[in-house]
Amino acid sequence: MKKLNLVVLASGGGTNLQAIIDNIEAGKLDAQIKVVISNNSKSGALERARNHNIPDIHLSHKQFTTPEEFDQKLLSILKENETDLVVLAGYMKILSPTVIREYKNRIINIHPALLPSFGGKGMYGIHVHEAVLESGVKVTGVTVHTVDEIYDHGPILFQKCVPVSSDDTPESLQQKVLPHEHEAYSRVIQLFAEGKIEIKDNRAIIKE
Ligand code: GRF
Repeated sequence: MKKLNLVVLASGGGTNLQAIIDNIEAGKLDAQIKVVISNNSKSGALERARNHNIPDIHLSHKQFTTPEEFDQKLLSILKENETDLVVLAGYMKILSPTVIREYKNRIINIHPALLPSFGGKGMYGIHVHEAVLESGVKVTGVTVHTVDEIYDHGPILFQKCVPVSSDDTPESLQQKVLPHEHEAYSRVIQLFAEGKIEIKDNRAIIKE
């Protein structure tokens, strides 16, 4: 089977990236990471890439005079690497409509809650888990979705529930959800590799 060419964009520690790397190295994913890109030169994600001999690029809007120049650079990296799937793994920047349109249905994101709840502006990192606890819901979870022009909004590809306990804190919830993220992301990437995902009328059809 042809390997799916991935480009991973990440801003933070990169545990989701690490899980993908580990699954590729274990032969569980028909994919290869062509390059890891981060807006944060000190991100753990870039370091993790280097540790596994994966090319890494620090790419920030601050390096360009206009947002359009940034987009052109990003698009040229994606094209040079014959990217099949753009994987956002804790990437804290919004991609422009230009990039999203060019890679329509081929950009995916992971969110540490059950969308469409607890998503949107300001809902990232620990804030998501704080909002979940404040709301009093008894289940939270993981969502993998394709990226469209609205924040945390594109067609949902996969969800998994995680129970919320009465003694959970935002931190404990984050730790509880994270391993499920790691599992979910590789699962969805493998579905792409096997050509089992089709997006029609803004809904994902999974041919499992
Ligand atoms: C994850 O919780 C992910 O759902 C969110 O950002 C976090 C990234 O964590 N989008 P890591 O950098 O992969 O450890």
